[in-house]
Amino acid sequence: MNVLVLVGSLRADSLNRLLARAAVAELPADISVRFAEGLGELPHYDQDLDVTPAPASVAAFRRVVAEADALLVVTPEYNGAPSGVIKNAIDWASRPRGSAAIVGKKVAVLSASMAPRGGQWAREGAVRVLTVAGADVLPGTVGIGSAHEVLTADGLIDDEARGAVRALVNQLVGTEALAA
Ligand SMILES: Cc1cc2nc3c(=O)[nH]c(=O)nc-3n(C[C@H](O)[C@H](O)[C@H](O)COP(=O)(O)O)c2cc1C
Repeated sequence: MNVLVLVGSLRADSLNRLLARAAVAELPADISVRFAEGLGELPHYDQDLDVTPAPASVAAFRRVVAEADALLVVTPEYNGAPSGVIKNAIDWASRPRGSAAIVGKKVAVLSASMAPRGGQWAREGAVRVLTVAGADVLPGTVGIGSAHEVLTADGLIDDEARGAVRALVNQLVGTEALAA
């Protein structure tokens, strides 16, 4: 089984990227993991660009989504919503109608925020957008609040939070029993 990770922050010191790495560390060892590269280089979704053949960056992104068995979406919250980077990536993966790469794909959503709610609106928004796009989204999400205090280069240092992340990612790959 292989999991594709989509990180919705482009900044070098992203807490969400640290969270994505921490989540990957909780996956069983036999799961193969790939981080989607170049999400920031995808054009803004434009129906005039959504033609055959698709722009090269879009075609490459759709291909890695299609090849994945499941997706891990890790998004910051900007003004109460998932990042534009994530929304844009989902929009591209939701087309063309009838053969969109995202349809039926199992997805888990996480968010890290410095605020205590852990990006709740970003997660709710991402679940809604992914569901409308046709993905099979896990209803439970994990938010890491006060993320600057618990996410370090060494990982997620809060045991309770790590347990929640472990449970979610194991649910994603269908190994809930092993997570206990
Ligand atoms: C334009 C902007 C809007 C933001 N809005 C929110 C928000 O609505 N809720 C929240 O919890 N944090 C908000 N933040 C703080 C970000 O969540 C925080 O900077 C976070 O660390 C960004 O994710 P990253 O570390 O992965 O880059 C906002 C930050 C920016 C720059």
